[in-house]
Amino acid sequence: MLDTLDISIRKVQNSRINEVDFNNIPFGKVYSDHMFIADYEDGQWSDLRIVPYENLSMAPASSVIHYGQSVFEGLKAYKNSNGEAVVFRPEANAKRLNKSAERMCIPEVPEELFIQAMTELLNLDKDWIPNKENTALYIRPFVFAMDDYIGIKPSEKYRFMIITCPVGAYYSEPVKVKIETEFTRAAKGGTGYAKAAGNYAGSLYPAKLAQKQGYHQLVWTDASEHKYIEESGTMNIMFVINDTLITPEASSTILRGITRDSVLTLARDWGMKVEERKVSIKEVVDAAKNGTLQEAFGAGTAATIAHIKLIGHEGVDYQLPAIEEREFSNKVLKAMDAIKLGEAEDKFEWIYKL
Ligand code: COI
Repeated sequence: MLDTLDISIRKVQNSRINEVDFNNIPFGKVYSDHMFIADYEDGQWSDLRIVPYENLSMAPASSVIHYGQSVFEGLKAYKNSNGEAVVFRPEANAKRLNKSAERMCIPEVPEELFIQAMTELLNLDKDWIPNKENTALYIRPFVFAMDDYIGIKPSEKYRFMIITCPVGAYYSEPVKVKIETEFTRAAKGGTGYAKAAGNYAGSLYPAKLAQKQGYHQLVWTDASEHKYIEESGTMNIMFVINDTLITPEASSTILRGITRDSVLTLARDWGMKVEERKVSIKEVVDAAKNGTLQEAFGAGTAATIAHIKLIGHEGVDYQLPAIEEREFSNKVLKAMDAIKLGEAEDKFEWIYKL
């Protein structure tokens, strides 16, 4: 149980904000002035504090370093058209953090702690929320094991932190992806659905091999047969085939993306035919060959809607239709932007105002 929601604040002496070129923000390299920290010990979260963004000091034996007991989230804050700071669907991220935490034997972060910590941090650093097109303040909450113990067991001490960084586009151009049929991201019963740090570490080597071949990202396939599409790199994947929006069904091997859910919700609301089901490589390749594959795109917080321009499979590259012709993904991207900016009705109550 939570002791108290009192958050102490130690502010920076000099803000770094004037050193930032907000016209040219790289993704994930510039951090705002402050960060939030809470420590977990003896079964409770305590010592809630906001401090200047600075390096951490931890024991070399900290179990997170050795065994990767760590989970994280990603969400974004925007300035709406009235200049107000808003966050997109933070309650959904708070819930997903705890799903991931449960799988990794990490204690729950109470939703009110998540939301209040984020709110107070953003209230302090709201000038860091950029307001140009395709920019946002990326919010990265994370929880990791802190015991200095070399044996394998769930840690007794944890740290929950939130850092934020102004960001531009994650992918600066439409992406080329390769369908991966040798390496595996996640197997049934594993940690694929969790936003666990190690899932990303395990993906690096296969992605590096694909990058050497000129692709930006991989499309992961199922571990047992490598026949069905799962997700792509840092995002969920969706296709429009014969005017139907098709995406792999959420399962224990796929991250339950919040952008994914938002896209599916809007599509259904517009009366589009939507299918969440197994999607075979064959179906996608056949559709690319016979011209019924109208669109393919990734959906994720960092990536937002990332158009896929080319899909590689078994040495053959399939070129997809021009981006301007992609009716659905262009429309859904615009619709989500309009909701975030307060220019369209927030019918599904996705917007959290500070
Ligand atoms: C996100 O989309 O928020 C992610 O966490 C993906 C990535 C930057 C690791």
